[in-house]
Order: sequence, then C-alpha cells, then structure tokens
Amino acid sequence: MTFRSRAFSGVQPTGNLHLGNYLGAVSRWVPVQDQMETIFCVVDLHAITASFPDPGELQAATREVTAAYIAAGIDPKKSIIFNQSQVPAHSELAWIFNCVARIGWMNRMTQFKDKAGKNRENASLGLLAYPSLMAADILAYKATHVPVGDDQKQHLELTRDIAAKFNNDFAAQVKELGVGVPNPTPSPELPEELFFPMTEPMIAGPATRIMSLRDGTKKMSKSDPSDLSRINLIDDEDTISKKIRKAKTDPEALPSEVDGLAGRPEAGNLVGIYAALAEKTKDEVLQEFGGRQFSEFKPALADLAVAKLTPMTSEMRRYKEEPAEIDSILKDGAERAAAIAEPILKDVRKIIGFLDVR
Ligand code: TYM
Repeated sequence: MTFRSRAFSGVQPTGNLHLGNYLGAVSRWVPVQDQMETIFCVVDLHAITASFPDPGELQAATREVTAAYIAAGIDPKKSIIFNQSQVPAHSELAWIFNCVARIGWMNRMTQFKDKAGKNRENASLGLLAYPSLMAADILAYKATHVPVGDDQKQHLELTRDIAAKFNNDFAAQVKELGVGVPNPTPSPELPEELFFPMTEPMIAGPATRIMSLRDGTKKMSKSDPSDLSRINLIDDEDTISKKIRKAKTDPEALPSEVDGLAGRPEAGNLVGIYAALAEKTKDEVLQEFGGRQFSEFKPALADLAVAKLTPMTSEMRRYKEEPAEIDSILKDGAERAAAIAEPILKDVRKIIGFLDVR
C-alpha cells in the first residue's frame, strides 16, 4: 500500500482575489486535476484569524472565491470544491496539531510576524495557530501534494514537521493498529510506517511570487492600501489597462536574457506576469521583447492580461447572480470532502486513545 496521490490547496475569502492568487495558485491547479485527485477549499476558518469580517461580507467572499475557482477552470465534477467550516474534521485535527506543534515553531513563522505587526501580544491566538490549521487542512485528507505560491513555503515546511512528529510520536500505535503505510522514502528520521504522508509542496513556474505593481520589492497582496498595486480578478478592462500603464518601471529597455533582469525588480515582475499569462518562460518573453522599451511592452502586457482575465471576470459576474448554484456546488463538495476526512479522523482518535463510546 502507498499513499494515494492527492492535491489539496486553498484560498482565504478575505477581500478581492488578485492576479497573484490567480497566477501563483488557482491557474496552476487546473492541470493538476488531470494528474491526481484534487481538493480545493475556500478556507473561511483562516479568514477570521486576523479579525472577524462582517458576516455578510464573509459569505459573499466565500461565494466569490468559489466562483473564481470555477471561472478559472476548476471543474466541480473532477475536483472537490468546498468551504472549510463545513467539514468539522479541519477544526478537530487542528486542535490535535496544536498539541503536536511547539510554540517555538509558530513564533518563527514570518507570516505571523508580518501579520501580527508590532503589537504581537494583541494578535489572536488563532493567528499564531494558523499554520497548524493549515497542516490540518492538508493532512485531514492525507494530501501528498500542495500547489501554492512561494509565500506558503514555510507553512508547508511546518506541515511536514507536524507530520513527522506525529508519525514518530505515535509510531507504535500506528503499527499496532495496522493503519500505517510503508515510508516510500525510508530515512533514519522517520519510522518505517507512516500515518501521515510527508506532503510535497508544488511551487514552480514564472509566477510563484507576483510583486506589487507599485513596488517590485513588495508582494502583491490583498492588504496593500493602494489598489493600483494589484490587479483584482473583478477589475474591468479599463482598470486592468490603467493599472499596467501606471505600473512602476525603470528607464532601461528590456534585456534579451533573464540575467539582465537582476537588480530590476519591477521589470522582472512584469516579465514574469507576461510569461505566466502567455504560458511561456521568461526567456521566451525576452527573446520576443528584448531591446524594446516599456512603452511598447506595457500595451502588449495589458492586451494579454485583458484577453486572459476578462472572460473569467464575466463568468464570475454571472455566478454572482446565481448564489444557489454556488451553494449547491459547495454542499456537494463538503459531503465528498467529509467522506474522505472522517475515516482518517477516526483513525487519529484511535491512535491517540480517545475512548470511543458511540
Ligand atoms: P492566501 O489566501 O493568502 O493566498 C492564496 C494562494 O495565493 C498565493 N499567492 C500568491 N502567489 C504568487 N504571488 C503572490 N503575490 C501571491 N499572493 C498569494 C498563495 O501562495 C496561496 O497559494 N494559508 C493560505 C491558505 C491555505 C492553504 C491551506 C493553502 C489554508 N490552508 C492548505 C494550501 C493548503 C493562505 O492564506 O493563502
């Protein structure tokens, strides 16, 4: 027996989805649907860690992220699409992982430090424990692959640390209960049989880290106060073109090779965006545009972005009129997700030794 190949990923329903979420994550999930079983979650439990959003807005954002998944090409028949709060296994396993993970591990998370800011004592306990909920999302399905952007790398390393500690701490029970799988890559750090897989991150391509259009050293983010810093998936044609036209650049022409982008973060970012949208490498883009000025490159990028994004936007708008359709997709997804997670949680309870009286 081996772990079944299964991909899991998610996006928080907080604010508008932007080009970084699309190119770094959602668009890259589409081909994975034909490679393995796929589960895509709208992580609403994560969306309350910074502060509780307005309830109506949380619901709207949950439907909007779902619509974006579908508009981007996630097929609810091939993939499981659901919102996290509907499958209690996530919260239950997260609690258990809170008792596996160490406070020191959480304190090292750079995203916690960034999000908590200066007044760390005043951050919610949920914000600190956030990565252990993320590990639970993944491991409640024994997911083997997680396609995400570069900013999630540290959280995925922590997921592996949690899986390793659980596998080690409970190795004897796992063996005794016969619920393990032979470790596919034997190593002295792990027992011969694993309960949880050592999940592989899938972080690749030209768009793992899309930067702000106003500052090439800052990540494109939902929380940036300047709307000009990002392209939102719901932006219309004119807004997309305007934001690209106003994007910060330097006065040089584009280089002919990728090496020439070193020290030019804004140029590197726009070339990366073009490459990801055109499904080309940065090298191929520079072969075409090397030696040309931004005054020529930006209109080409704007045309490409509009051509790629606006069909999705109109599909998302259509779904906005059909909330019942979205809700029924999420309901079906939650049932299918729970059917996978529940038996795994049942084993976890047995392994730990919770008395089962029902
Ligand atoms: P979130 O909601 O912040 O972002 C969703 C996805 O978008 C990617 N992303 C980017 N990629 C490239 N460039 C950017 N500027 C950019 N900004 C965001 C993120 O890497 C992510 O893949 N904790 C996660 C959600 C989560 C999750 C999980 C993901 C919860 N549980 C389990 C995978 C597996 C988050 O807050 O992503």
